[in-house]
Amino acid sequence: MTDFKDILVTREDDIALITMNREKALNALNSNALAELAVAAGMLESDPGARAVIVTGAGKAFVAGADIKEMKDLNLVAFRNFIARGQAAMDVLDAMEKPVIAAINGFALGGGCELAMACDFRIASEKAKFGFPEVGLGLFPGFGGTQRATRLIGRGMASELIFTGDMIDAAEALRIGLVNHVYPAESLMDEARKVARRIAARAPLAVQRSKTAIKIALDTALAQGLAFEREAMALVFPAEDRMEGMTAFVEKREPKFTGK
Ligand code: CAA
Repeated sequence: MTDFKDILVTREDDIALITMNREKALNALNSNALAELAVAAGMLESDPGARAVIVTGAGKAFVAGADIKEMKDLNLVAFRNFIARGQAAMDVLDAMEKPVIAAINGFALGGGCELAMACDFRIASEKAKFGFPEVGLGLFPGFGGTQRATRLIGRGMASELIFTGDMIDAAEALRIGLVNHVYPAESLMDEARKVARRIAARAPLAVQRSKTAIKIALDTALAQGLAFEREAMALVFPAEDRMEGMTAFVEKREPKFTGK
């Protein structure tokens, strides 16, 4: 696969992994990592063989935030560009039609938690830690955190985490719905692969349209969301995979989906 500097992109059959890979800096998001992340998301989106994507971090961190050392001495224009680049990278990931799972192996702070929230759902290791330390730096979450945390965990929880900068552990993240499951550190990636493979075995177009419909639910009135859902269902109906899925059910066998 394409050679990146600050991330690793690997394919394992029909699943793909993006590993944030600046281990010495706890995978902090510098401009280059953000640019590479956006390129990788675009690349995997147009790779017909990749049906589900896992995002994780190398070493003891998932991502410890935006790169403070890069940001510290920027002028205002450059800082604004940096934030725009960060938001854009999160948006590219969020906008992927393919399902994206965050496998949070360690610190997911600031921009790291924002990256995790740009994925469809999150699973975590018992060792993971979450939080928005930005207010301790004179900033606040700027890679989408105020928007996505509020949508995901609600105004009250988002406000408490963002205003205090407190770090929470995986059990608390599970309790507040920031992550779906918590696993022992050594089984996190096996569990990530298992769920990614279960998704990859389903009809790809149906999974992708359901993702789009779920995302629309966050930004639209119920009636419009239902209208979208109806039209999206009508779009998957003529697909070969829909006929294969229903035929396989009737013939009492496992379906073989091709993504068509
Ligand atoms: N940016 C740049 N470098 C970082 C970093 C970051 N966000 N987080 C960690 N690092 C670097 C450290 O500077 C250190 O490098 P050196 O060895 O060159 O000194 C290396 O990674 C290891 O870090 P620590 O020695 O600090 O490791 P630790 O285990 O003692 O502590 C930690 C771990 C609690 C996560 C601590 O590193 C930390 O607090 N990091 C910063 C977390 C943070 O504030 N994140 C928010 C960033 S701002 C943001 O994200 C804005 C936004 O919304 C867009």
